[in-house]
Amino acid sequence: MSLGHEKIEKNIGLLAVLVAVAVSLGGLAEIVPLMYQAEAIEPLPGVKPYPPLQLAGRDVYVREGCYNCHSQMVRTLRFETERYGHYSLAGESVYDRPFQWGSKRTGPDLARVGGRYSDDWHRVHLADPRAVVPESNMPAFPWLLETPVDGSQVADRMKALQRLGDPYTDAQIAKAPGEVAGKNELDAVVAYLQGLGKHAPKGG
Ligand code: HEC
Repeated sequence: MSLGHEKIEKNIGLLAVLVAVAVSLGGLAEIVPLMYQAEAIEPLPGVKPYPPLQLAGRDVYVREGCYNCHSQMVRTLRFETERYGHYSLAGESVYDRPFQWGSKRTGPDLARVGGRYSDDWHRVHLADPRAVVPESNMPAFPWLLETPVDGSQVADRMKALQRLGDPYTDAQIAKAPGEVAGKNELDAVVAYLQGLGKHAPKGG
């Protein structure tokens, strides 16, 4: 150990500053190139901004705090890809604002849940999880069935996302309230869940 090193290790203030500098430089070296990499900022083929009903479902997902128990990011580890499917790619979530990757998994990761169950299974499960998974400790969300989706709010959210650069057309926004008319929040969450992972590469 050189003398300079010893001096740094014995001076907690200096050590803290140098650690912060080292971590910041490392962070910049990892993060800045990502901002310019096409593979991180360009959608995968087929990935489009959410259709109105799925967008409404996504907002309910965020409002209800589903992310407190569910991540949406399959890691590149073998036991993950064997359980869930292909690991998550940045190009799948370019239209996710805010993204739902997360790391908290009280329940399973949901990045590949689309198509795994029927719509009916999800409807029963969300209203009363223990009706289909007796050992489940997921809370029930029975009010979703009784809460209609507000079409004008969905259109406003699409407008806000359009302003942020999502390629919604004005015609799509104008049609949105009609598309969600008569739907409730349960329909919306189920549509959202069934769309998750739809454009992921196939296989592990
Ligand atoms: C307190 C934690 C918790 C919250 C909050 C929560 N879940 Fe869950 N979820 C779980 C657990 C635990 C399981 C596994 C048991 C089961 O299937 O019910 C699960 C399972 C699931 C599954 C089945 C996944 C699979 O691959 O089998 C779906 C879909 C799901 N949750 C959706 C949601 C949605 C949508 C919300 C928000 C409206 C939500 N969860 C909120 C804990 C939670």
